Amino acid sequence: MSSQINSYIEANKDRFLNELLDLLRIPSVSADPKYKNDVLKTADAVRDKLIAAGADNVEICQTAGYPIVYGEKIISASLPTVLVYGHYDVQPADPLNLWTSPPFEPVIKNGNIYARGACDDKGQVYMHVKAFETMMKTNTLPCNIKLMIEGEEEVGSSNLGIFVKANKEKLKADIVLISDTSILANDVPSINVGLRGLSYMEVEVTGPNRDLHSGVYGGAVANPIQVLAEMITSMKDKNGKITIPGFYKDVQIVSKKERAEMAKAPFSKKNYMKDLGVVDLKGEKGYSPTEHTSIRPTLELNGIWGGYTGEGAKTVLPSKAFAKISMRLVPNQKSQKISDLFAKHFKKLAPKSVKVKVTYHHGGEPAVTPTDSMAYNAASRAMQDTFGKRPIPVRSGGSIPIVALFEKELKIKSVLMGFGLDSDNIHSPDEHYGVFNYFKGIETIPLFFKYYAEGAK
Ligand code: BES
Ligand code: MN
Ligand code: MN
Repeated sequence: MSSQINSYIEANKDRFLNELLDLLRIPSVSADPKYKNDVLKTADAVRDKLIAAGADNVEICQTAGYPIVYGEKIISASLPTVLVYGHYDVQPADPLNLWTSPPFEPVIKNGNIYARGACDDKGQVYMHVKAFETMMKTNTLPCNIKLMIEGEEEVGSSNLGIFVKANKEKLKADIVLISDTSILANDVPSINVGLRGLSYMEVEVTGPNRDLHSGVYGGAVANPIQVLAEMITSMKDKNGKITIPGFYKDVQIVSKKERAEMAKAPFSKKNYMKDLGVVDLKGEKGYSPTEHTSIRPTLELNGIWGGYTGEGAKTVLPSKAFAKISMRLVPNQKSQKISDLFAKHFKKLAPKSVKVKVTYHHGGEPAVTPTDSMAYNAASRAMQDTFGKRPIPVRSGGSIPIVALFEKELKIKSVLMGFGLDSDNIHSPDEHYGVFNYFKGIETIPLFFKYYAEGAK
């Protein structure tokens, strides 16, 4: 059976690659309204590809934002159902001048496909479409499949909750399968078993009622940029602990045993620093870099601005300063609660000389998935077959809010079987995805279905 699958993939290799390149040419940037038509065009393209692959009941489901593309193949009510989730929207490509080749004109160089969305998540979504086509064309689909590809993941999936709540029957499944994460290395396969949650905030600090001459007024009037910088600085102590009262209260303490288990995953601090071009790392005292980005919560500045930032110099004491600040959360922190704690603390920190405004952008809950489930086992066996090595379970630092949402609303767990690499530059210039990884995914996914269907018998 699997040789039949492999020969179908082999025979269609060029087409599988070229179709992905076509999809990557449509700039589906969900954050920027300028790309609205392209985002909608991408949804249509995904729909057409699902139909061509053999899916039934394919539809574009409207939401208050960008639509969700849905398709299914139900073979028998007595067989289990796998729900595949992914996203067809991508991050903005800025800063454009740092790309070696244009972000929406994909090229293959040194075995990598360079384009925005190549890895996150069009490339990984398309592996599922092609794996599905392969199973259909070789008559090897062993259970029911539903595919749900959304267009607002990169902007917080704010309409997805409503859709999931309103479509519980349609989305009914036994397991969710997602490829939107990474493996440790091409020769060190891994399965993601944890994602962090998120609270994304924006703050505005207002000083004087207008921009002032910094010589005429400077020295007597509080500068909102300085005030904001001091407020931000005080939000972490010298040990790298976040000082927001109550921030750590619900943080799940990971046992020594589990930490020792996690520390077995290969990690070279030297190579990590070399890859990033830094000569030192900084993180919460008492934890390793891998722990900083997995089992511990963080607070990061994502942007800060105010005053004059154009060419040359302008002597101004600005009226306002701004920052975008996000916090990554771990079990059992709650996004809403953390956002409230942040807002309360930030307002309290503000000296009398300024007014502050705190707004909430979006959030999501953390999720951990079990390593002793039949579904995890199916993924593990599938990867073992194609990589020749048993994958290592790892928690990652990124967020996919839908995972917690599926669990809460549909009571289904997810398997996070991604094929990217942390070095694929997702959200950065020169995002890329290995041709090796793309085809590894297409080969591995049918094996997951096979082992999952067998195990569920
Ligand atoms: N695919 C990523 C998340 C990811 C990447 C998880 C690598 C694990 C490893 C996803 O598209 C993403 O970027 N999510 C956002 C959150 C969202 C609410 C904007 C994130 O993590 O910043
Ligand atoms: Mn993604
Ligand atoms: Mn992303």
